[in-house]
Amino acid sequence: MAFKFSSLFALVAVAATVRAAPASTTATCSDGTQVPDEVCCNFVPVCLLVSALQNTLFMGDCGEDGHEVIRLTFHDAIAISQSQGPAAGRGADGSMLIFPTVEPSFAANAGIGDSVNNLIPFLSQFPNVTAGDLIQFAGTVALSNCPGAPQLEFLAGRPNATAPAVDGLIPEPQDNVTSILDRFADAGGFSPFEVISLLASHSIARADKVDPTIDAAPFDSTPFVFDTQVFLEVLLKGVGFPGTPNNTGEVASPLPLTVGSDTGELRLQSDFALARDSRTACFWQGFVNQQEFMASSFQAAMSKMTILGHNRADLIDCSAVVPVPKPAVNKPASFPATTGPQDLELSCTTSQFPTLTADSGSQETVIPHCSDGNMTCNTVQFTGPAID
Ligand code: HEM
Repeated sequence: MAFKFSSLFALVAVAATVRAAPASTTATCSDGTQVPDEVCCNFVPVCLLVSALQNTLFMGDCGEDGHEVIRLTFHDAIAISQSQGPAAGRGADGSMLIFPTVEPSFAANAGIGDSVNNLIPFLSQFPNVTAGDLIQFAGTVALSNCPGAPQLEFLAGRPNATAPAVDGLIPEPQDNVTSILDRFADAGGFSPFEVISLLASHSIARADKVDPTIDAAPFDSTPFVFDTQVFLEVLLKGVGFPGTPNNTGEVASPLPLTVGSDTGELRLQSDFALARDSRTACFWQGFVNQQEFMASSFQAAMSKMTILGHNRADLIDCSAVVPVPKPAVNKPASFPATTGPQDLELSCTTSQFPTLTADSGSQETVIPHCSDGNMTCNTVQFTGPAID
């Protein structure tokens, strides 16, 4: 009797699982692509888009062209305001690509034009893909090239923008913590924890415009890997600048050594401030050496950011076409050579800082300019209407 009951229970449980699970690979599109729902076959060109993006733009690399598109996902999406209403901007609507001479020219978007010009050609190659979908989908592909990154959700169906967003909606590195947190809250109700989660993207970031005298200044010592080093390194005492001092939005970094085209680390004033503010310091510290927690928190916050301006229920889940990211390198966070626990500037009072090893060596770390160690990186730049 007990056996019968448990097998019946198991059967019911299996039936329930089958009904509740996202119907995995229940439809096969005409090109052979398997998708969870046949509706996703409408977006099969998106699958071809993966190879088009990888082969003509990203080259499978977590390099400059990919980083720029990941930043573009943010700058397109965050241009929305609950307090100002829809006329100010409609979030992740592709307005950056549709009005390429308007938003990319705003000061806060300096450096975004290259990614805008690089994506515009895909709009005519894939006419069924809207500009908002293209930006967010390209971001998921770019991120998949970065070891340790999460596989982002991709929901399709953002209508095309009908107007550009207004100026003033993109946070800037010279903004104070209150205005940054207020901006994210006004854009999409983001909590301070979600803001810090999104900043995991700065683990693969480099700056060209903060100090225009230097090229691609990284925000941590591992700019081609989606790891937690940025959360550690921003907490270290700043000692100098990779280029010139006195740039707006920049403060001293702990690894400023520039050798030829290997540019030293640049620290944004906003990252510095968010890492030390009482509202966010513990969230910031909490990601140090917590690869999976950081990646899953970023993934969750991105699910919210990438659909700003849209109702989740109006979109179609086509995450099945997002490439699986390269695995994490599995190197624990460590103090770069010449730095150590004595350099930490900690403000979080409720949790202990983790114990980490220090890299050996008496010389300051030189951060490679390209992911393959070369001095000249393979980058792609299509010409287009946006100014960089
Ligand atoms: C407090 C909010 C933020 C501020 C003030 C900020 C500011 C900046 C600045 C000034 C740069 C350098 C641009 C340049 O000089 O070329 C940059 C780069 C970047 N940011 Fe942010 N950012 C913020 C949040 C975000 C978020 C939420 C994301 C994505 C989810 C993001 C992704 C990136 C990426 C990927 C880059 C590197 C671009 C490249 O290497 O070409 N940022 N950010």
